[in-house]
Amino acid sequence: MRALLTKVEQASSLDRTGDRLQRVVLSTLRPRRLRDLLHGVTLGHPLHPAMVQVPVGAWISAAVLDLMPGQRRPATVLVGLGTVSAVPAAIAGLNDWAALARDQRRVGLVHAAANTVGLTLYAGSLAARLSGRHGVGRALGFLGLSTVSLGAYIGGHLAYKQGAQVNQSISELHRMTDGWHSLADMATLPQRTLITREVDDDISVILYRHGDEVTVMLERCPHQSGPLGEGEVQEIDGHACVVCPWHGSAFRLNGGEVVQGPSGNDQQILPTRIQNGVLQTRLP
Ligand code: FES
Repeated sequence: MRALLTKVEQASSLDRTGDRLQRVVLSTLRPRRLRDLLHGVTLGHPLHPAMVQVPVGAWISAAVLDLMPGQRRPATVLVGLGTVSAVPAAIAGLNDWAALARDQRRVGLVHAAANTVGLTLYAGSLAARLSGRHGVGRALGFLGLSTVSLGAYIGGHLAYKQGAQVNQSISELHRMTDGWHSLADMATLPQRTLITREVDDDISVILYRHGDEVTVMLERCPHQSGPLGEGEVQEIDGHACVVCPWHGSAFRLNGGEVVQGPSGNDQQILPTRIQNGVLQTRLP
């Protein structure tokens, strides 16, 4: 499986279909607020992995009931719940998928294809159960569960091996040494300007001064490591935010909360203090 998925990552033959589907997704899910909602911006956490818990839980429970006598009715209800709830989960997944890097989109396409087949099998299972053909419904249900399990395996590869929609900047904290690090002389730190500094020589942070308050934030964008220090500061919903120059994710400068996707994760703010006129920071 590992070798196969590595081949899928490199399969440029998938790009034509992927590019076409990406255009359809982006033109269909046009309102930014809808896309942000589906990315999980309001949660500060990607929404798709949370949403798939409902269909997966319902379908696994239905499979258990299918192995027990006299449980046709609750099994049918669970297959129906799983099938209906899989649709919004799939839409949230497609929205995340459209903002991935190319190699991630290739694997995501196979993940989506497996889950679409699984969903179709479950829709067939539901139809069979509702028309009284419970044997067929059970068989289609088990086939559906096998297929979505394959889809889940591929989704695991996408998230944990390829890092799709996981926070790309947080590993910077694991490289930062303990103790306070000096960053800048307050007397020369300009107001309302993004400044980039290094901690421990190679961990990039951005500084933003507003009056006597200074925000220190990791520079690598949590979405795909874009350089926030090269971004713009914009006022969004009444808050000063830094907007990533790569795909437009925006983070509040007074807290790090994501206010605009495709990032579904907040950005890490670091504690600060001023010692003898020098701004310092440390691990949270
Ligand atoms: S890297 Fe994609 S929004 Fe920043």
